[in-house]
Amino acid sequence: VSIGAITPEAKKIATYFAAKISLATGYDVKVEDKGEITLVLDSCATFSPEGYALDVESSRVQVTACSPRGLFYGMQSFLQLLPAEIESAGIVRDVDWEAPAANIIDSPRFAYRGIHMDPCRHFMTVEEVKKQIDVLSMFKINTIHWHLTDDQGWRIEIKQYPGLAEIGGRRIEGEGVEYGPFYYTQEEIKDIVSYAAERFITIIPELEIPGHELAAISAYPGLSCKGDPVTPRNIWGVEDIVMCPGKESVFTFLENVIDEMVALFPGTYFHIGGDECPKTSWKQCEDCQALIRKENLKDEFELHAYFIQQVEKIAEGLGRKLIGWDEVLEGGLPLKATVMSWRGEAGGIKAAQLGNNVIMTPNTYCYLDYYQENPEFAPLAIGGFISLEQVYDYEPIPEALTAEEAKHIIGIQGNIWGEYVATIEKFEYMAFPRLLAI
Ligand code: ACM
Ligand code: ZN
Repeated sequence: VSIGAITPEAKKIATYFAAKISLATGYDVKVEDKGEITLVLDSCATFSPEGYALDVESSRVQVTACSPRGLFYGMQSFLQLLPAEIESAGIVRDVDWEAPAANIIDSPRFAYRGIHMDPCRHFMTVEEVKKQIDVLSMFKINTIHWHLTDDQGWRIEIKQYPGLAEIGGRRIEGEGVEYGPFYYTQEEIKDIVSYAAERFITIIPELEIPGHELAAISAYPGLSCKGDPVTPRNIWGVEDIVMCPGKESVFTFLENVIDEMVALFPGTYFHIGGDECPKTSWKQCEDCQALIRKENLKDEFELHAYFIQQVEKIAEGLGRKLIGWDEVLEGGLPLKATVMSWRGEAGGIKAAQLGNNVIMTPNTYCYLDYYQENPEFAPLAIGGFISLEQVYDYEPIPEALTAEEAKHIIGIQGNIWGEYVATIEKFEYMAFPRLLAI
């Protein structure tokens, strides 16, 4: 068998799958202009950008699409019709490489199909991340939301602030055992981002602010209101010490960090977190209170919104659109940001009604770190319970929205927070099979 493709773009997809099929079958599958398996790029008048048609007949297989991405997805569907051993990382003999005859016309309902990963609470190596990217691409997930900073660990090298990774990347756990330093170098990030891009996955980095930043504050205490020395948090939960919006230097820091990060992540979006930020330290901070008076803000919730607005301007200046968790709309100030609805669907409904784009990731359906089987017998999880059936039955467009408002729902995402996900085996156990339902 050979794979036929004419254009360089189609040949690239053909080469990817020829290598994969050769690896599992042991046959030397070649890429030529004509083949028993043919990849055809057609007009986008017929196909949506991510859609494809797959025809499996007795003597030929053809995938037709209007983009390399569509061809990639069509071939992934073809591989899923073959015996599962086609995904093996080595030659499997005694398998009949048969696929059922089929005629499939497929395209995604939503443009954003995401998974959230949290290497802050427990780190994932480059190889572990790549393995997940391979699997996610099989199932046509097109976005990884990478939560790279939190109270318990800072996981990305920033050259202007080396302490973030060196100091913020390690914590002392319960019995005095040091966890880390664990972080991705910029070279490793580039490697992962391009590995993902070859598989049509965009990685959106999250720099979580202004809360959940004790690891950064440990390295640079001036980022907080009081400036007291601290260490990265070694228990889970929500930390009271947060960044200080009252200090101009905090915005300079953020601009420098975001500048380095956007250079590594060439997508459209930049995620700034924005959730779970206690207002206690701001209430007692002279700088924060002075800013509230200067900007005529009503309270600390408006200060939070003001902070997010400023960061939105920074991100836009660097060519990125903002994404934030649903708290970003709490202060009531206008934002252009795309909102991730996590506290149920209410934040997403409100955002869509305001005209903001929304990604649905409610903790009532999409939290894949919650239990999926009887907690009495299941491996320890953070809590909650969301079965495969519940995820599968979830309808991402809330009934409360009009047809016009519903257009703002751009997609769905499964979240896997890492507190109780210390190994890659546990990650896979939590992710699957529920991610397939996503
Ligand atoms: C979240 O789960 N705190 C977004
Ligand atoms: Zn302050």
